[in-house]
Amino acid sequence: MAAVQDLLLVPLALLALQASLCHGACVELDSDTEAVAMEGFKLGCISCKMRGEVPATASVNWYFKAKDETEFSHLYSFEDQTPEIIDPRFYGRLGWNGSKNTKDLQDGSIYILNVTFNDTGTYECIFSRNLIYTNYEFQTNASKIIVMKVVPRLTRGLASILSEVMMYVSIIGLQLWLVVEMIYCYRKIAAAGEEALRESASRKNSRMLH
Ligand SMILES: *[C@@H]1O[C@H](CO)[C@@H](O)[C@H](O)[C@H]1NC(C)=O
Ligand SMILES: *[C@@H]1O[C@H](CO)[C@@H](O)[C@H](O)[C@H]1NC(C)=O
Ligand SMILES: *[C@@H]1O[C@H](CO)[C@@H](O)[C@H](O)[C@H]1NC(C)=O
Ligand SMILES: *[C@@H]1O[C@H](CO)[C@@H](O)[C@H](O)[C@H]1NC(C)=O
Repeated sequence: MAAVQDLLLVPLALLALQASLCHGACVELDSDTEAVAMEGFKLGCISCKMRGEVPATASVNWYFKAKDETEFSHLYSFEDQTPEIIDPRFYGRLGWNGSKNTKDLQDGSIYILNVTFNDTGTYECIFSRNLIYTNYEFQTNASKIIVMKVVPRLTRGLASILSEVMMYVSIIGLQLWLVVEMIYCYRKIAAAGEEALRESASRKNSRMLH
């Protein structure tokens, strides 16, 4: 009887696992750090709620320190589902890429629409989270640092074109070398064969003379 119950529990447990994977699964992936000039770039920042079952609200603030600056300045804030770009250098160039339609944010990523070389620098994202228990609230903060570097758009294209050319050159080169080698071997073998024929013929001739 107990065994039957256990057997019934396995699919239920799997189902529950699947449900939790589909819904609440939160993984703190690191952000990319290399942006390409004039293209879009996602600054990733994920902070998983340690107690998944406890309701919470969170706000996210981003700070930016350009390559030649020494202090962080306030870049962006997202609170109560309201985004605000604070740094004028980024007006019209930042979009929200984090959790949508919830105050319980776990993904605070933002998106730079058109990266310029001036965007090179250090970004900090700070999560302020209020865990709401029945009788009290508990505040936790989490922060992530991203050091972002901007590369020109061409390097990748150029590198891949170069590597493609190199690939063809090496393939054609290898095949030419193979053909040359084959001709060389063929000639050598043919010459050796002729030599052997001539030798045996001359031996026969000399035997006949004696
Ligand atoms: C990220 O934000 C950009 C700009 O707002 C938008 O075009 C893009 O669709 C967003 N991507 C996701 C996955 O939300
Ligand atoms: C991106 O920015 C550059 C320089 O700031 C500008 O020339 C270009 O038109 C912009 N591209 C887009 C798609 O906004
Ligand atoms: C980058 O910064 C320099 C100096 O601060 C400024 O002159 C230039 O216009 C900026 N370029 C862009 C594309 O914002
Ligand atoms: C979390 O950050 C907020 C401001 O964003 C600050 O007022 C609060 O004291 C911080 N809490 C902790 C526990 O560090």
